[in-house]
Amino acid sequence: MTSTPAAPGAGAYLDHAATTPMSPAAIEAFVAELTATGNPSSLHSAGRAARRVVEESREAVAAALGARPSEVIFTAGGTESDNLAIKGLFWGRRTTEPRRRRILVSAVEHHAVLDPAFWMAEHTGAEIVLLPVDDEGRLDLDALRAELAAKGDEVALISVMWANNEVGTIQPVQEVVQIARPYGIPVHSDAVQAVGQVPVDFTASGLDALTLTGHKLGGPVGVGALLAKRGLPLTPVLHGGGQERGVRSGTLDTPAIRSFAVAVTEAVGARAERAEHLAGLRDELVRGVRAAVPGAVLRGPDPLVDPSRRLPGNAHFTFPGCEGDSLLYLLDSAGVQTSTGSACQAGVPQPSHVLLAMGVPEDDARGALRFSLGATSTHADVQRLLDALPQVVARAQAAGLASSAGTSRGVSSTTTSTTRRPA
Ligand SMILES: Cc1ncc(COP(=O)(O)O)c(C=O)c1O
Repeated sequence: MTSTPAAPGAGAYLDHAATTPMSPAAIEAFVAELTATGNPSSLHSAGRAARRVVEESREAVAAALGARPSEVIFTAGGTESDNLAIKGLFWGRRTTEPRRRRILVSAVEHHAVLDPAFWMAEHTGAEIVLLPVDDEGRLDLDALRAELAAKGDEVALISVMWANNEVGTIQPVQEVVQIARPYGIPVHSDAVQAVGQVPVDFTASGLDALTLTGHKLGGPVGVGALLAKRGLPLTPVLHGGGQERGVRSGTLDTPAIRSFAVAVTEAVGARAERAEHLAGLRDELVRGVRAAVPGAVLRGPDPLVDPSRRLPGNAHFTFPGCEGDSLLYLLDSAGVQTSTGSACQAGVPQPSHVLLAMGVPEDDARGALRFSLGATSTHADVQRLLDALPQVVARAQAAGLASSAGTSRGVSSTTTSTTRRPA
């Protein structure tokens, strides 16, 4: 058994931040467990065997991330873990301290954090505070300090992601924890993009809760975890059989959990070596894009100036005069798969809330592309992008000019309500 995951299909796959291939070891664990029967909550021997697999997996996830096994709550992935953290912590705090109604989140959070926070505002009387970021997407710690100095005793929780999924900016999570501590405010971090890319130690971070998911690190989709300190007031979102300390009901998915644990162990164990490989490729990509398209603007911290501020596998550019979707489809036709990172509503591309929060003008934000690398990425992938890019950008610019000369851009349709959001 090799530890190199299979490369996804033909062409250059540069969208590992959306999902990355399962590692062979994770696939093997998954398949092996599919042949076993037994509900981990059952008392007979098959159930006890499944329970053993779950508990060993819990220990493995905890060991890889500097947590205690009892702090690992298995979920169905990042979105569920984020919902549990935001809603569960808010309700948990409000039960004992009703005046704590404010939810502080960074303005660049993933929708899996932003949307539950806004839902709480709409349905349960929460008040959302979007914490500002600088032009590289890094949290403004002074704004957080000022917010807490003014209304710290009204804050139910703070959520700041470990690393941004669009521009790869690493957030000062430890400083957030230190600033929040005197106020007794629990801090959650969405570390979906960070685990396996940068060192993540739950206990050392001082965080109260942390989200991770399987399919961004070589495990299956549909499984993840919320790490939560013991004793944290966390009201369940799912009610039922009382699994996972009563915090997350639902029959545990033994094959997915075992495979997830294998992937977490592998990703964390290989992290330093992989990060070096990814950063080397990423720097090659950044230099190459700048040379191939001189007008392209790198967004987020410049890794060639300070690599510690950005995820090793992430590069993100805006291309003036282009629509990100045009670039995406043209590159896809050339065999290069990327992401715009921004949402699409009713068929109309929306500029990314992350770029807007960083102060990028709306027109520039429309021409965004994220390139994300993973364990299977190669020099050939980067070269294929660089070979295709100049012509693709020229065509997208021509299309952009044509559409701004007409009137179609930005016209929304009332006939469809579809929303597509970035991964
Ligand atoms: C930062 C971040 N949080 C949460 C999620 C959602 O995770 P999942 O796809 O496991 O629900 C993603 C996925 O794109 C993400 O990038």
